[in-house]
Amino acid sequence: MKLWGGRFIGSTDSFTDHFHSSISFDSRMYKQDIEGSIAHAAMLGKQGIIPMEDSELIQKTLKEILADIEAGNVVFDERAEDIHMNIETILIERIGDTGKKLHTGRSRNDQVALDIRMYLKEQITDIKALLKELITVLNNIAEKNTGTIMPGYTHMQNAQPVTLAHHILAYVEMFKRDRDRLEDCYKRTNVMPLGSGALAATTYPLDRDLVAGKLGFDSITLNSMDGVSDRDFVIELLSALSLIMMHLSRFCEEIIIWNSQQYRFVEMDDAYSTGSSIMPQKKNPDMAELIRGKTGRVYGHLMAMLTVMKGIPLAYNKDMQEDKEGVFDAVDTVKMCLPIFTRMVDTMKVNKDNMYDAARKGFMNATDAADWLVKQGVPFRDAHGIIGRLVLYCIENNKSLDELTLEEYKAVSDVFTEEIYDAISLETCVNTRTVKGGPSEGYIKELINMNKKIIAEMK
Ligand code: ARG
Repeated sequence: MKLWGGRFIGSTDSFTDHFHSSISFDSRMYKQDIEGSIAHAAMLGKQGIIPMEDSELIQKTLKEILADIEAGNVVFDERAEDIHMNIETILIERIGDTGKKLHTGRSRNDQVALDIRMYLKEQITDIKALLKELITVLNNIAEKNTGTIMPGYTHMQNAQPVTLAHHILAYVEMFKRDRDRLEDCYKRTNVMPLGSGALAATTYPLDRDLVAGKLGFDSITLNSMDGVSDRDFVIELLSALSLIMMHLSRFCEEIIIWNSQQYRFVEMDDAYSTGSSIMPQKKNPDMAELIRGKTGRVYGHLMAMLTVMKGIPLAYNKDMQEDKEGVFDAVDTVKMCLPIFTRMVDTMKVNKDNMYDAARKGFMNATDAADWLVKQGVPFRDAHGIIGRLVLYCIENNKSLDELTLEEYKAVSDVFTEEIYDAISLETCVNTRTVKGGPSEGYIKELINMNKKIIAEMK
């Protein structure tokens, strides 16, 4: 018979059992469910709500059940619906009437809210650690490439030269913010809902703060109806995970472009590439593409959960069981993508020469050439015109500005001297941009050191 079977005459249809059962996916919260129950039982004993020896037997048996699950010796039953009732059923099977006392002053509604909060706290901590690894690897790649000049783009057109370090550190900023967001979301997940009961708390003298302390929560929920029906923290996490995927996906898109025959800025290691079943020459950046592709499912889970929650009247409704599969899949996806991405960028070969050659195209130093003329006293509008004419000359003669001879320069304006070459070198263009936030080697080295300190302090 079902644990709630007393009020029923008929039994549920087996198809109904299958439809509403959540054990196939919430079984992954078995550890949180048992830890929560142990803390609850300990508190019930201490408060004299159940006899101390019953509390102790319940706690001891729950620990044995945990060990049995971990050893693979427990088969869950779909007819017991979910992880909460599966474990309670096993407890009652083992210790009979004493086991029936565990659920005193508790509802599955606050129990499931507790379990999911505990589970997600662990996941957030894991993902923060994975982000820290990624940030460390990116900062190290930047350190090796403070002088690796490459084109900076707007509209995918060559715009101004930057360095690979500058480009990569842009992503470091994004991933630092992603970590901050997780830290922030953790705070709101770290609130203990047990004691909310089904919705209107309970008449038993529960010590909720004691339970919160035992389970490592910072505080308790302050309204029992909110305690059982809030899933904001799930949505917040899905949103933080979506942003992580968005950043990974953008970076993957760039890596896919950089790895193409047309660019050849980087080459992916064999370990992170795959071949084609028909074209023998192919080496495809599948991992980057797959990460880009998986971004869609994480966004999907965010949208699904916002939609699930939008019309649910207070307090608990079964719709909320739909929170788990999506957020579990989102967490699993991010936990797979982050380490793959980290290893993929860590092992990718950077073709510095190809980046440099690409940076020489597209007259990215034209502004700097005009600025040099201005420094020699030429009004900016005239300087703009002179360099414009030189660019046209270069296009007609298939040259870049730094390839022109001094005679060719002087043919357009006699202000030019040998100094122009140094002034428009890509190195000068990059390294005179010394303003904080810019690409100059000096500032970038400062930023890399700043990041090292930030990384060392990351918990
Ligand atoms: N499996 C349920 C869930 O995930 C647990 C809570 C069920 N509560 C209830 N009153 N049916 O939401």
